[in-house]
Amino acid sequence: MKIAVLGTGYVGLSTGVCLSEIGHHVYCIDINEQKINNLRNGISPIYEPGLESLLASNMTAQRLQFTTSLEEGLNDAEIIIIAVGTPQGDDGAADLSYLEQAAKDISKYVAASSIIVIKSTVPVGTNEYIQTIIEAECGFPVQMVSNPEFLRQGSAVQDTMKPDRIILGSNDKTAAEKIREMYLPLNAPIILADIRSAEMIKYASNAFLATKISYINEIANLCEVVGANVEDVANGVGKDKRIGEAFLQAGIGYGGSCFPKDVKALLHTASLYQVDFSMLKETIAINDNQQKLLVKKAVKRFGDLQGKKIAMLGLSFKPETDDMREAPSIKIAHSLTQMGAEVVAYDPVAINNAKQVLGDIITYASSVYDAISQADALMIVTEWKEFTQLDFASLVKKMNHPIIFDGRNCLEEEQLKACGNVEYYSIGRPVIII
Ligand SMILES: NC(=O)c1ccc[n+]([C@@H]2O[C@H](COP(=O)([O-])OP(=O)(O)OC[C@H]3O[C@@H](n4cnc5c(N)ncnc54)[C@H](O)[C@@H]3O)[C@@H](O)[C@H]2O)c1
Repeated sequence: MKIAVLGTGYVGLSTGVCLSEIGHHVYCIDINEQKINNLRNGISPIYEPGLESLLASNMTAQRLQFTTSLEEGLNDAEIIIIAVGTPQGDDGAADLSYLEQAAKDISKYVAASSIIVIKSTVPVGTNEYIQTIIEAECGFPVQMVSNPEFLRQGSAVQDTMKPDRIILGSNDKTAAEKIREMYLPLNAPIILADIRSAEMIKYASNAFLATKISYINEIANLCEVVGANVEDVANGVGKDKRIGEAFLQAGIGYGGSCFPKDVKALLHTASLYQVDFSMLKETIAINDNQQKLLVKKAVKRFGDLQGKKIAMLGLSFKPETDDMREAPSIKIAHSLTQMGAEVVAYDPVAINNAKQVLGDIITYASSVYDAISQADALMIVTEWKEFTQLDFASLVKKMNHPIIFDGRNCLEEEQLKACGNVEYYSIGRPVIII
């Protein structure tokens, strides 16, 4: 099939690359010229495991092309997938301005037979709203399919190639059938729904996962004061098939480009319809508190952070991504520096993006060893696998004080025992002082 994808961010690029991998002819379109120029040279604008090699092979096979020209990209497109950003607006609602612009842009080139698919995360009613914009501009009826995306950054290619399910929401059976055909080579379960339910499925899923994280974090906080260990608790709870083990890792809260904004957007939708979704307010409040925990623990330990050198391991909002959007590291870096601490941070891939967000309020190290040298404390902020495999016994010897605040419960007691002399504070687990 001939497919055009608007937006070459995490979702649009992964979708475009994977659809070409399963044999479709894909044109990826973006308004960002630099991104398109890089992509034409086989350079991915984002870090995603496996993405660049698929990019290269499908470009070589001439199934994947990039352009900033809608005329070129939409020429003959049977399916137009919109995957532009829907960031948080000032009032918590999803900002639909990119989507509205994309709708107006494509109306000039859309054919009566083409199907328009919205993959961006959008509030209930948006597909219908966008349909009215396009129809008003192009002057004939168009077919819409809501196809929310569930990929996780850090495993975007794998998630796109092997999704748990594909949601197709449409009020037009023929349109939904065509999109089902597009996805057939993936051999994934496909769930058909009406267009509004499809939109709601995305928000209901993300809000549930965010709430599960806040729930285990609140249990972790309780574990600390009653003398229980949240890891044992989560293990025991998660083995119950009705609950499941995923998203029961206590830590310093969720971040990223989706959970924070999607929870707030769902809350906004509820308030528009006078529904008091108070549980979501708590999910957000717990998460805000959780992101402050490492700093609170450091203040409790040191009293005053003025002049303390803090090594920060991890900047991205989660491992295997360079995305800094809503990363807990941002709040932590701001709080520490406002209290007069000197922060030296290391991240395997997110330093360039972190510099755009944090500028020079912190120093960026080129290795863990550089970051940790002469540090008064170490904070583990992102659970990169390479951090868990470090030789902490020799690392802590490079510090002024062997004090570790682990925001992701990365280290085990055995690793700490090997350090000889260490103080270790984590989330919902007993303090270890050796
Ligand atoms: N990132 C994720 O993990 C994820 C997962 C599931 C769903 N989503 C949703 O998917 C959507 C996209 O998210 P993302 O993280 O890929 O966004 P992103 O910000 O990484 O990328 C959006 C891209 O769209 C481009 N763009 C904006 N307006 C355009 C236009 N008129 N025409 C063509 N391109 C245009 C931008 O230049 C940018 O490259 C959002 O609604 C998001 O909530 C994201």
